Amino acid sequence: MTDFIAGLPKVELHLHIEGSLEPELMFELAQRNQVAIPFDSTEAVRAAYDFHNLQSFLDIYYQGANVLIHEQDFFDLTWAYLLRCAQDNVIHTEIFFDPQTHTDRGIEFATVVNGICRALEQGRTELGISSQLIMCFLRHLDEEAAFHTLEMALPFKDKIVAVGLDSSEQGNPPQKFARVFARALEYGFLTVAHAGEEGTPQNIRDALSLLSISRVDHGVACAGDEALMDELAQNRMPLTVCPLSNTKLKVFERMEDHNIAMLLRRGLCVTINSDDPAYFGGYMTDNFSAVANALPLSEAELAQFTLNAIEASFVDATSKAEMTARVQAYLAAR
Ligand code: HPA
Ligand code: ZN
Repeated sequence: MTDFIAGLPKVELHLHIEGSLEPELMFELAQRNQVAIPFDSTEAVRAAYDFHNLQSFLDIYYQGANVLIHEQDFFDLTWAYLLRCAQDNVIHTEIFFDPQTHTDRGIEFATVVNGICRALEQGRTELGISSQLIMCFLRHLDEEAAFHTLEMALPFKDKIVAVGLDSSEQGNPPQKFARVFARALEYGFLTVAHAGEEGTPQNIRDALSLLSISRVDHGVACAGDEALMDELAQNRMPLTVCPLSNTKLKVFERMEDHNIAMLLRRGLCVTINSDDPAYFGGYMTDNFSAVANALPLSEAELAQFTLNAIEASFVDATSKAEMTARVQAYLAAR
């Protein structure tokens, strides 16, 4: 099973690029940019990654991002992630970035996007990895700030396929951003949102109806609502599930308790993703392996996670057919 998972072509749909900042690069950038960080070694950084919920992670995650200043920093960050993708046989990735984490520190929007996109372009030509970029609004900030961020994104519209919603779910429901998302849809962006990670099934329902989302990020709380699960299965509404994130942030105590296998077997379009791999202890192959080690899944079921991700991706039918053919060829050669 280890070899099968390692070789399986994978598609990632839920990855925060700031969450791929490994402690080693954090130290390198802190030094390069003369930014103080409250740790004296990479071991001390890793020791601090002992989270008990989403907020305890977010506090450290936003602090880590402070070392990112120049376009080259965003390039280096993204390139390091893409090299890990290549190791894990990730053939396509759709990555989130949090512009407000940077613009609120005086970093230009263009600095962030240009650095990320230069790496994505090099990933296409040198690694054969295709990609899309999704801009997230920080939901703990207000509606006006999100509107302002949306306007800043317009000159980069051709580089950003969708807008999303992340940060603290509790206390910041989808309603708060209904008008911003309506405007984003008018501008031609697709929409996604984190919902039902720590929040309720009602948050998933509200994200679907008020934000017109094309995918639910996380969404594992749907298991508390039978009718919602039926609806999600019927509509093949994709869920971008992040197994190691969920156990690290105590959404599930143990991987054996995770509901991803149950959701797959009920016909939901569930996918496996790494979320913030530098903080949660693993990239795509690690997430697939952690699931396969804890839950009894066949090779066909594991491959179905990739087929679901291809179905849920924001690329044209030709690209989806090409990626599907690569998975079929891999299965046929076994
Ligand atoms: N949830 C909410 N906000 C986030 C996450 C997450 O999993 N990762 C980075 N920002
Ligand atoms: Zn996330």
